[in-house]
This record gives sequence, structure tokens and C-alpha cells, in this order.
Amino acid sequence: MTDFEQIRILDNFYQTSSFFPVPVVLVSTLAEKGQTNLGPYSLCFPHLIARESKYAMMLICREDSNTAMNIKRTGVCALNFIPDEKRYMENCVVLGFSGETTEEKMVNSIFTLMPSMRPDNGNGSNYPEVVEESVQIFECT
Ligand SMILES: Cc1cc2nc3c(=O)[nH]c(=O)nc-3n(C[C@H](O)[C@H](O)[C@H](O)COP(=O)(O)O)c2cc1C
Repeated sequence: MTDFEQIRILDNFYQTSSFFPVPVVLVSTLAEKGQTNLGPYSLCFPHLIARESKYAMMLICREDSNTAMNIKRTGVCALNFIPDEKRYMENCVVLGFSGETTEEKMVNSIFTLMPSMRPDNGNGSNYPEVVEESVQIFECT
């Protein structure tokens, strides 16, 4: 006899019907007017792990999100690995409502933005700002 219970499976099952931990990264990208956009994403994994100088991450991302459109336009993003603290996770939910512009959502961000240490991306624009509270940051092209 086990103590297992049946769980109703809802959309976004890995968040709504699951109890195992998933990571949350804050992806920073550059909006059209140059403002940094922060989007919370769980589906972000190591992808190419052993090719000389060609290391890669995979991000599974709604195609009309600010993040996807900004990456396609600028070719750059930063993956900000933030600490697992309740206030940060709560703010990730606030930053995760779909359909908000960068200007609308970023007034509600509690994260501290600081400039990238890379001066330019060789692509005509800068790297997005990064999140100071992070434990580690991957700046990606
Ligand atoms: C904790 C958390 C994890 C999320 N993970 C993903 C994900 O992996 N892929 C995705 O497409 N959307 C994910 N979302 C939803 C996006 O954050 C949402 O589409 C949001 O509008 C993206 O912001 P952006 O438009 O500024 O990129 C997640 C939301 C939260 C709160």
C-alpha cells in the first residue's frame, strides 16, 4: 500500500501538476529602444557541451515573446542564474505575464541591472544588461 495520490494534470504540467524542482533563469535581452528586458524561463538547458569554443544552451521559448523577438533581432542574450529565494521567484511570476511590453513590465522588476562587461557584440548593438543578484551569468550570442 503506497501513499501516492492521483494529481489532476493541467496545462504547463511541469509547473502546475509537478513537485520536482525546475530551474528558473532570467533571460536578459535588448528591446528595440535599447531597454533591457527580463523574461523568466525554465526550459533552458545545456545543448552543445563538448565542441571546441562552440558551447551552446537551448532555450524553448514562445516565438512572439519579447525574449524571442529580441534574440532574433539582436543575436544576443544573457542567462542570469538567480538564487532560489521566494521574493525572486515571486517577481519572476510578475515578469512572466505574456503580452506586456518591456516598458510596462520592467517598472515592476525588483532585480538590479548592471552593464555587461563586454563592450559590444560585433553585431552593431551592445549586450543587454545583466542581473547583479545572479550567482552566475552566461552571455550568449
Ligand atoms: C517560472 C516561469 C518559467 C517559465 N518558463 C518558460 C519557458 O521555459 N518557456 C516559455 O516559453 N515560457 C516560459 N514562461 C513564460 C514566459 O515567462 C512568458 O511567456 C513571458 O511573457 C516571457 O516574457 P518576455 O515576453 O518578456 O520574454 C515561464 C514563466 C515563469 C513564471
